[in-house]
Amino acid sequence: MSNDSEHWSRRTLLKQGIGLCGFTIGGLIASHSWAAKFIQITPRQALGPFFPDDGDEVETIRETPDTRIPIAQANDQDLTFINGRQGTAKGKIIRLRGRVLDAKTSNPVPDTLIIMWSANASGRYNHKGDDGMDTFPHPITGEIIHRAHDEHFQYWGKAITNQQGHYWFTTIVPGFYPIDQKAGLYRPSHLHFKIMPPNTPQLVTQLYFRGKQIPNNDLNQELLPKDVVVRDAQLTQEELESVIVDYVPDTTGELPNGLIGHYDFIVPR
Ligand SMILES: [Fe+2]
Repeated sequence: MSNDSEHWSRRTLLKQGIGLCGFTIGGLIASHSWAAKFIQITPRQALGPFFPDDGDEVETIRETPDTRIPIAQANDQDLTFINGRQGTAKGKIIRLRGRVLDAKTSNPVPDTLIIMWSANASGRYNHKGDDGMDTFPHPITGEIIHRAHDEHFQYWGKAITNQQGHYWFTTIVPGFYPIDQKAGLYRPSHLHFKIMPPNTPQLVTQLYFRGKQIPNNDLNQELLPKDVVVRDAQLTQEELESVIVDYVPDTTGELPNGLIGHYDFIVPR
C-alpha cells in the first residue's frame, strides 16, 4: 500500500463512523505506528464574512439570555427551531454527527466548543452584511429563488464534545447562493465551523454536501471544484473530497424524513 492510499484510507475510515463488529476501527488503527503519521488534518478554509458577532445579525436570536455570552455561543445545537417560538425552519432536515479527534494520537478531544453557522434554505444569512440580491434565477432551471429571511431558522448554534469527543447538530441543507452571476459563480451549499479545542488554536473550516436527497445535489457537485473558497484554500482533490459529507436517509427513526451525515474533525494539537 502506498503512503497516499494509507493516508486516504485512514481519512475514509475516520469518515465512515467506524463502529464495526464490537470494536472500533479507530482504536485498532490508533494502535498501529503509522496511524499518527498519516492522519489527515481537517483542512482550514475561510471564516467568510457572515460569522455571527453581536450587532451583525439582522434579527437577534439568543436562546441563552445572558448577554455576557457572545451571540455566537448563545444558541443550542438544533437549528431547525428557536426555543420559545412556534414553527420550524424551511428546508431539508439533516443531522450531522461525529467526533473531534487529535491528529497526533487519534484520541477524542472532549470539551471542544464547536460553533456552526450557515445560510438558510433559500441561501440567505441572518447577517447585515448579506444585503445582496433578494432574488436570482436558478442557473439551470431558471426558477426565481427568493432569498428570504426564515424567522424559524436558528442560523447558528453551538455544540460541546462529550468525553468520547462526540458532537451533533440538527439543521437544514442551506441554499446555494450567487457570488457573481455574470461570471457564473455560486457558492455550493455549505456549513461553516469554528472548532475550539481546549488549550489549542482554533480551526475554521467549511463542510459541503453530497447525496441523492440533497436539494440541488447535481448542481452542488458541479459548483464544488470551481468554488472560490475551495480555490482560495488551495485544497487538493483529496482535501476537497475529505470535506464533502455524504448524507443518507435516516433509517433509525430518530429523524423522520431527515438525512444523516457523519464527519470527524481532525485537529492539530
Ligand atoms: Fe458561507
